[in-house]
Amino acid sequence: MEVVIVPGSKQIGKLAADAIEALLRRKPQAVLGLATGSSPLPIYDELAARHERDGLDFSQAHAFALDEYVGLERGHPESYREVIRREFTSRVNITPENVHNPDGSAADIPAACSSYEEAMHALGGVDLQILGVGTDGHIGFNEPGSSLASRTRIKSLIEQTRRDNARFFNSMAEVPHHVVTQGLGTIMEARHVMLVATGAQKAQAVRDFVEGPVSAICPASVLQFHPHATVLLDEAAASSLKLADFYRHTYDNKPGWQGL
Ligand code: F6R
Repeated sequence: MEVVIVPGSKQIGKLAADAIEALLRRKPQAVLGLATGSSPLPIYDELAARHERDGLDFSQAHAFALDEYVGLERGHPESYREVIRREFTSRVNITPENVHNPDGSAADIPAACSSYEEAMHALGGVDLQILGVGTDGHIGFNEPGSSLASRTRIKSLIEQTRRDNARFFNSMAEVPHHVVTQGLGTIMEARHVMLVATGAQKAQAVRDFVEGPVSAICPASVLQFHPHATVLLDEAAASSLKLADFYRHTYDNKPGWQGL
């Protein structure tokens, strides 16, 4: 796991966009894994700017979203299908049919989850997965207690996550209780995972998953087993890390050719 600590989210956006740009230049038909929430927004802003300014080309790329609420009607502005479209995919030239979302309104949710996994496999799997982390250590919507080998499936949200996400709705009561999410086993198959965390409210979760034991109580800790995991943090999110100075030293002395 590589931990990179930078002053703020602008630098995180640039670093992550550099990695995604390098991937798209080397593999124009790359498969991107997209997260929603606040953490990835600086990355999406930077990618949209590079598309606009430099013509960064997404025309052959594919994208798979991590998760979706269950129970929101199609087109609901806070459904993750809409959020991804609004915040990112409508701002670049990715083909809309190449953007895949778990179907939280399917009549047969288990069948829809299996088809989602099959679609990912058919395209050769995810090349680069963007992740945020919940204050309880979730990735995707794999809440504490999730199987470390889980696949795409329906899950219940913990109350803390519903509270954290209530800011996107008119009231807590509107936040769905159920979601469909890629599993931890699914996420672990991405060839490169890049997790972004900013702000002091994430410091404990970051400390737990980077330096704590691998355990289902902290789902993001499974990334310690990933062969290519990058953790991009601002100073506040990194503030509880024991080895912060070592991570800084390592990154500062990293050969430029290595990239992320
Ligand atoms: C959303 C997702 C979640 C969020 C996490 C952090 O697609 O996968 O795991 O990344 O809840 O959310 P923010 O970034 O809003 O703090």
